[in-house]
Amino acid sequence: MAAMQRSEFRPDDLDTNGSYHLMTATIIPRPIAWVSSRSADGVDNLAPHSFFTVASADPPIVQFTSVGRKDTLNNVEATGEFVVNLAPEDMFHAINDSATNYPPGMSEFDELGIEREASRYVGPPRVAGSPVSMECRLVRTVPVGNCTVVWGEVLCFALDVSKVDLSRERRPHPRALDLAPLARLGKNEWSTLGRILDEPRKKYEG
Ligand SMILES: Cc1cc2nc3c(=O)[nH]c(=O)nc-3n(C[C@H](O)[C@H](O)[C@H](O)COP(=O)(O)O)c2cc1C
Repeated sequence: MAAMQRSEFRPDDLDTNGSYHLMTATIIPRPIAWVSSRSADGVDNLAPHSFFTVASADPPIVQFTSVGRKDTLNNVEATGEFVVNLAPEDMFHAINDSATNYPPGMSEFDELGIEREASRYVGPPRVAGSPVSMECRLVRTVPVGNCTVVWGEVLCFALDVSKVDLSRERRPHPRALDLAPLARLGKNEWSTLGRILDEPRKKYEG
């Protein structure tokens, strides 16, 4: 096979935001945490964050990254609580619209008519139409470069029973296709779940 021809760039070779652009167009698809939070004044905020993953399996800790300082980060630091809602395909436009830079006193829930559902253990509400909501207590925020990483311990997983296999006691299994999660690609591109491959992991037998 002929050797691949590559172009190489160091971050300093790129223009402002060039590294950001390359990373967000390459580290794909990214799951989307649709984060609800409440301000100290009681305004419910909602914003998508695709710099999102698991930070710890036990205890369950999730993390998302605020690029710069935004209402979500301010609220989380002020109250120590937030909810990560899965971003489902059928709420695509509401999710995108909730990324609008509304001022802090304005609630995306109210502006966009997104239905709330009370959380059980934290103040910020769940998104009623999201099939999975994780109620989180802030562990810590960590400044990194021009960003802040937020770690939250999951206090409660609230699951839509119609989209989860509950046949095994104490081991609910969400059905991926039923959850229909959106993912973020580069620029303004999004994706839905593609083909699912199911393959057991091999064990080294020595
Ligand atoms: C799909 C998607 C993913 C996003 N991911 C992030 C992210 O990971 N971090 C971030 O700071 N902003 C992200 N944004 C932008 C924020 O959602 C946007 O700045 C929003 O206005 C922040 O709201 P807030 O000020 O109410 O917290 C994303 C936007 C979209 C549409």
